[in-house]
Amino acid sequence: MVLMVENVDKEINGENVLKGISITLEEGDFACLTGPSGCGKTTLLRLIAGLIQPSSGRICLNGSLAGAKSDSGYVFQEGALFPWLTVKQNVAFGLNLRGKSPKETRDLVQEILNLVELAGFEEYYPKELSGGMRMRVALARVLVYQPKLILMDEPFAALDFRTRHKLQRDMVALWQRLKPTILMVTHNIDEAVYLSNKIIILSGRPGQIQEQIDVTIERPRVRTERSFSLIRKHILSLLGE
Ligand SMILES: Nc1ncnc2c1ncn2[C@@H]1O[C@H](COP(=O)(O)OP(=O)(O)OP(=O)(O)O)[C@@H](O)[C@H]1O
Ligand SMILES: [Mg+2]
Repeated sequence: MVLMVENVDKEINGENVLKGISITLEEGDFACLTGPSGCGKTTLLRLIAGLIQPSSGRICLNGSLAGAKSDSGYVFQEGALFPWLTVKQNVAFGLNLRGKSPKETRDLVQEILNLVELAGFEEYYPKELSGGMRMRVALARVLVYQPKLILMDEPFAALDFRTRHKLQRDMVALWQRLKPTILMVTHNIDEAVYLSNKIIILSGRPGQIQEQIDVTIERPRVRTERSFSLIRKHILSLLGE
């Protein structure tokens, strides 16, 4: 088991933000977390990343309590790249800090840039890239560490429809190839059903788990198929739509 969240409560400034949250993710799970705005999704990711601490309950990553040194990678929204560094330097940034040799770093960075289809853009600066490309750099920067758990907070929210669908397809291909464990926040039900094998739905204020759904539809998934629509409908009805 990669992630175990056990009966976690989180209070912020006297407000109960999350209550009784329990989640387990197995190695290779692709889970999506959804729920109304303000229900505590980002707070839950921050707890799992060890950036903040639960008020009660436990969070374990690979059997150890979650903390600042946990083996998770956090994909922030697109603005989180260093604007003064090139694509290559952005991706290599943390590896240099981790004591890899220059050649190891170069090879690994190139391999990951090929994977996210950014070969040829190594020397570009973030401002010279499209939103979708910046998102790929942000993803590459996390993939390069090969973390046990990848946390993503609405990574595709700012992208247009086409780019979003393309990145979703690429994301599934990458996941099938590297098999990382992923926990991704999304407001987009379609995206959750397309990507994940588990969907965790939070209800609002305080955020509580309303339902967890296993999605076993074959891949590649087709949004217009009946099995897909049935799950989408079920989730929409849970969210009161
Ligand atoms: N640092 C903080 N200080 C005060 N309140 C906070 C803080 N972080 C979160 N909250 C409160 O916790 C609640 C949940 O916030 P959070 O950002 O986790 O929601 P969310 O589900 O990610 O929302 P959205 O879908 O809009 O991104 C909100 O009511 C917010 O006011
Ligand atoms: Mg949020």
